Amino acid sequence: MLLKNKKIKWGILAPGHIAKKFAHDLKAVKDATLYAVASRDLNRAEEFKEEFGAKKAYGNYMDLITDPKVDAIYIATPHTFHKTYTIDCLKNKKAVLCEKPLALNSADVALMIQTAKNEEVLLMEALWTYFLPHYQYVLNFLKEGHYGAVKSLEADFGFYPEFNASSRLFNKQLGGGSLLDIGIYPIFAALSILGVPDTINASCTYFETGADSSCDMVFGYKNRAEAKLSSTLLKKTNTEAVILCEKGTVHIQTQFHKPTSVVFTDANGNRKTKNFEVATHGYNYEAAHFNDLLHKGKTESPIMTFKFSQQLMETMDKVKEVIGLSYYE
Ligand SMILES: NC(=O)c1ccc[n+]([C@@H]2O[C@H](COP(=O)([O-])OP(=O)(O)OC[C@H]3O[C@@H](n4cnc5c(N)ncnc54)[C@H](OP(=O)(O)O)[C@@H]3O)[C@@H](O)[C@H]2O)c1
Repeated sequence: MLLKNKKIKWGILAPGHIAKKFAHDLKAVKDATLYAVASRDLNRAEEFKEEFGAKKAYGNYMDLITDPKVDAIYIATPHTFHKTYTIDCLKNKKAVLCEKPLALNSADVALMIQTAKNEEVLLMEALWTYFLPHYQYVLNFLKEGHYGAVKSLEADFGFYPEFNASSRLFNKQLGGGSLLDIGIYPIFAALSILGVPDTINASCTYFETGADSSCDMVFGYKNRAEAKLSSTLLKKTNTEAVILCEKGTVHIQTQFHKPTSVVFTDANGNRKTKNFEVATHGYNYEAAHFNDLLHKGKTESPIMTFKFSQQLMETMDKVKEVIGLSYYE
């Protein structure tokens, strides 16, 4: 699908909390336009269309998926529906930017990737942190070896939402729980900084709905590096990432998964802070990358690769196995 020099017409499938932030930031992406939005409720779609200046509003998802004018679809449903709608979109030749986690398990991720390959259509997991300037800077800094090898990583993500058994965060039927929703960020940090772990230890607590309320993980690596990771919906935590290297420490400040500042401390204790504040929420970076891939006729991101999405979900599957969590798969 070569869309060179064309303004990419985006559709948003499921106008919830995150879709609003995404639509706001899409305005900052060159050669992209929000063309249509689809909700299960036409009124909601109409309201969203008015708020963000889309051209079309649909009262069901299939009308968006089959609209021949749409080039790319951003899927922002609860996790449980990512697989089905992604596959529907790909089969209708729509490029898909799908929210994290791509699915509930790695078998489903494999199926989604295989469908994208068969259809020769772009698919990418919307793990926005990977595309943010501060995160890319840190990855490059570590890769260039300024502080030597990474010895350990500590990363957490915790907040304290009001309990509501039917909301997607707590409802297991909607993929609820801390691990898949926010634990994915510390796990993503471990994979992008240290790679796939050789050993995994984990423990968790549960809500009465069966969704996990918190999850503590320790990833071990053959080179003796270690990652201590946690997610919780029971308290607000620092939500930082601290990377201890042979010759210094890199501290991604709160909240590490968003545009933020980074403190570099060398072996002599010299500190340097770099600020990476941006004018948007930060979702325009993943969208701009995706838009660019479409212009170049690419069907896979060189950053958020299929392999990385697969490894991310395989790692989460292993954590689920250790803590005994399953989603009726
Ligand atoms: N990248 C990030 O920073 C970030 C942040 C938050 C969430 N997320 C991800 O985005 C996805 C959506 O999260 P959200 O916080 O935006 O959720 P949300 O506010 O609950 O919105 C989800 C939307 O999905 C649609 N939907 C379809 N079937 C549904 C069902 N059975 N129950 C509930 N909603 C249903 C609803 O839209 P209609 O009814 O109008 O169709 C709803 O507005 C999740 O996968 C999450 O992991 C990403």
